[in-house]
Amino acid sequence: MKYSHVLVTGGAGFIGSHLVDALVKNGVTVRVIDDLSSGFKKNLDSLDKIEFIEEDISKLEVVQNVVSDIDIIFHIAANANVPLSVENPTLDYMSNVKGTFNLLKTCVDSEVKKVVFASSAAIFGEPKYLPIDEAHSTNPISPYGASKLAGELYGFAFQETYGIKFTSLRIFNAIGPRQPRYVIYDFLNKLKNDNSKLEILGTGKNIRDFIYVGDLVKIFMDCAEKAISDGKAYNLGTGVGISITELATKILKELNLKNTKLTYTGFSWKGDILKLISNPNKLNKDLNIKSFTPLSDALSDEIEWFQQKIGKI
Ligand SMILES: NC(=O)c1ccc[n+]([C@@H]2O[C@H](COP(=O)([O-])OP(=O)(O)OC[C@H]3O[C@@H](n4cnc5c(N)ncnc54)[C@H](O)[C@@H]3O)[C@@H](O)[C@H]2O)c1
Repeated sequence: MKYSHVLVTGGAGFIGSHLVDALVKNGVTVRVIDDLSSGFKKNLDSLDKIEFIEEDISKLEVVQNVVSDIDIIFHIAANANVPLSVENPTLDYMSNVKGTFNLLKTCVDSEVKKVVFASSAAIFGEPKYLPIDEAHSTNPISPYGASKLAGELYGFAFQETYGIKFTSLRIFNAIGPRQPRYVIYDFLNKLKNDNSKLEILGTGKNIRDFIYVGDLVKIFMDCAEKAISDGKAYNLGTGVGISITELATKILKELNLKNTKLTYTGFSWKGDILKLISNPNKLNKDLNIKSFTPLSDALSDEIEWFQQKIGKI
């Protein structure tokens, strides 16, 4: 490891907690800042081996006190919920834009060498072509997408202006244990309550590209080490799209549910994007990421976690 002391913002969340556990396993000293607005301390297997600060990154004075002696920041904290950003854009702005700005501003006069940022495919809006490469234009259609794009732009501007190394990782759809929301969790939760039917939000025709959380963790850690990623953005998806109906069918098969009836609401939430598939070529070329965990393995891992921690289906 080229770094020994890291700060993980949002380290109690779904993706952040997996990253923290992996860093600790690799002997890295980890400090977490998380306000627990959507994360849980119980997510962290390594809680007793890290420094945990329960605070909000939208407060500048708080952020100023957490970057001392830090080499690398993994900036994962955010409102990650698109419908919530539509309902409450101010909350989304405070965590995602102001929080990111606070962090970058604090880095200017610190020892921090690099910031690796969790961005989102939501910055693209409805794509003009598929699969989406890094050169695709950005046109967010939700406050969440706009806030993630603002975070990226500030990061690159701060690299240019103040020399802080910055990498932006635009996550498509993450999958794996500890996922607190989104489509797979929603399906499993509905099936837990009643497995005779499964209501799908929308038409089931939306296309998504699911990437396993373990693969994300590896890419975040690689980017922290590799100078080739400085000042760059990467699209984090597998290049394989699947419709939501196909996903539901796979989940039912995995659960051995043969008689569940699929129903559709016909409409989705504001800010929902119809098709998202990533082009992983740049990821392959720069970071030598040649393959991804198969969706079936990622699904069984999430289903096993759900049945152990949330409830039997
Ligand atoms: N899960 C996905 O499919 C996905 C897709 C695209 C982008 N992302 C991005 O990845 C990151 C992690 O997402 P996740 O799915 O793990 O979500 P999550 O909600 O599980 O994790 C976010 C964490 O940030 C913390 N947090 C939120 N606002 C905060 C604040 N103001 N101060 C301190 N902590 C705060 C939450 O308590 C939570 O622990 C987010 O930045 C999200 O935008 C996720």
